[in-house]
This record gives sequence, C-alpha cells and structure tokens, in this order.
Amino acid sequence: MAYNLLKGKRGIISGALDENSIAWKVAEKAHEEGATFVLTNAPIAMRMGQINALAEKTGSTIIPADATNVEELTHLFTHGQEVLGGKIDFVLHSIGMSVNIRKNIPYTELNYDYFLKGIDVSALSLHKMLAVAKKLDAINEWGSIVALTYAAAQRTFPFYTDMADIKAMLESIARSFGYYYGVEKKVRINTVSQSPTKTTAGTGIKGFGDFFDYANAIAPLGNATAEDCANYCITLFSDLTRMVTMQNLFHDGGYSSTGVSNAIMQKMGLE
Ligand SMILES: NC(=O)c1ccc[n+]([C@@H]2O[C@H](COP(=O)([O-])OP(=O)(O)OC[C@H]3O[C@@H](n4cnc5c(N)ncnc54)[C@H](O)[C@@H]3O)[C@@H](O)[C@H]2O)c1
Repeated sequence: MAYNLLKGKRGIISGALDENSIAWKVAEKAHEEGATFVLTNAPIAMRMGQINALAEKTGSTIIPADATNVEELTHLFTHGQEVLGGKIDFVLHSIGMSVNIRKNIPYTELNYDYFLKGIDVSALSLHKMLAVAKKLDAINEWGSIVALTYAAAQRTFPFYTDMADIKAMLESIARSFGYYYGVEKKVRINTVSQSPTKTTAGTGIKGFGDFFDYANAIAPLGNATAEDCANYCITLFSDLTRMVTMQNLFHDGGYSSTGVSNAIMQKMGLE
C-alpha cells in the first residue's frame, strides 16, 4: 500500500546491485511512494549487477560513480540535478565492502591496505558524498540522508572484523556532518542499523547463515527484512520525520535491546 509519502521528491539511491540489495528495495518503495531518483553504483557493479532492470522498472537514470572518487561524485550530484530537474531531497548511502572479510582475515591480523580500502569505500564515501553535495548546494532544505550500518559499531561481533570499526566511523561521520549540515541548511543525516539481511554483502561474511538464525531467535520480532528496512528508510526521507537528525536508529526487531530470549535458552537446553 502506498501513501504518496515522497510525492514530488528527488533522490539519489546508491548500492542496488541485485534484487536482494537493501537499496533495490528502497528504490522500489521510493518509486511506489511517488519519488523520482537517480540510481548509482560503482562502474564495476554495472557489469555484475542487474541495475538496468531496476532503472527500467522505476523509470530512473543510472549515473555510475565510484563512491571513493570525488570527481565522479561531483558528476553524480551535478548531472543528477540536471536529470531530475532540481535539487535533491533524499540520498541513500548503501555501500559496504571489506577486503579483509572477503579474504577471511582475522581481526587481530588485519591487512592495513585492505583496512584503509574498507574505510574509504564504506565510511569516507559518506563524508565525500556529503562534502560534494554541500559544496554544490545540491540538497534542498529539510533534505534527508540515510546511511546503512550494523550493530557491531557498538558491540563486538567477531565475524564482522574491520567493518565494526568502519561502521563506528560511518555513524560518527553522520553525527558530525549532521551538525554542520543541519545548522547551515537544515539537512538531516541519520544511520539505520539493520538486522542481518541475506544480500551479497551480508552473505559474504563467514558464518552469516548461523548468525542470521541466532539473531532471528533473539529478536522479539525476528530479523527485519530488506523490505522492512526500505519502508523505514522511506519514512526517514519523508516530511513526517523532519526533526530526526544525527541519530543511529536501530531497525532490528528489538535485537539490540534484548539480552537473551527464551528461544535461545531452549536451543541451549537451559529451559
Ligand atoms: N546485509 C546485511 O546483513 C546488512 C546489515 C546491516 C547493514 N548493512 C549495510 O547495508 C548496506 C548495503 O548492503 P547490502 O547488504 O544491501 O549488500 P549489497 O552487496 O547488495 O550492496 C553493497 C553495495 O555497495 C556497492 N559498492 C561497493 N563498493 C563501492 C564503491 N566503491 N562505490 C560505490 N558503490 C560501491 C556494491 O556495488 C553494492 O551495490 C551496506 O552498507 C551494508 O554494510 C547490511
């Protein structure tokens, strides 16, 4: 059911690789809610992914940009405004990649070149996007930026290795930039801390399947799906959440507030 929550709004949505991607669901929902937007992803993802099908379905233009490259981001925001016919109202940052995770390198033995790459792609890219947008004055007052994060930024999840530190930085950038952008242009910046979700990035993590089941058994509402996450992002892009900024918002079925559940106690034979 659609509510026209984003009617007349213009957006930029990054990170849709295939139909499992959280960004893919956000694009579908934003379209249903009346928004027009540009899709973006790293040039290499264009070849691997199915983003053309999403563009066709949602009537969107694709503007490739490596989120670590300020020139390409400048083109994205400049050309994006031309294509959409005005300033941007919402941006989704849905970008994450750790070579250390991909190569199964333990946290205490991290490769620092890979670590720096992960920081650049997954955290600094948010700062770069925001800095470019601000310099170009590309975002409307009361515009809303959402970046996706994970609870390992607050508490240790060993399998998440360097991405835990990188997500902590991402959340901090959202807060810090949220201050400046809020004071100067009333632009809002938040992070959404999402449940484990079966996507390319998620399932690339060793032991993801077992952990997915564990989190599902802890959370009173169960794990939030990518579609649930998309619905939440839409509310944050809408005018109904105008005064929400600089927050890390848990979207996890109650997982982050639950110590233990009866379901887990039973699984361990303790009840
Ligand atoms: N899947 C989960 O369990 C989970 C949980 C919490 C948060 N998140 C976060 O959600 C976001 C989206 O991930 P997803 O799970 O939908 O997986 P996904 O693999 O579908 O999306 C990750 C995207 O990042 C893009 N990307 C990588 N390097 C890039 C670069 N240099 N420039 C531009 N784009 C680049 C990829 O092409 C891909 O589209 C990530 O920030 C991820 O950390 C995922």
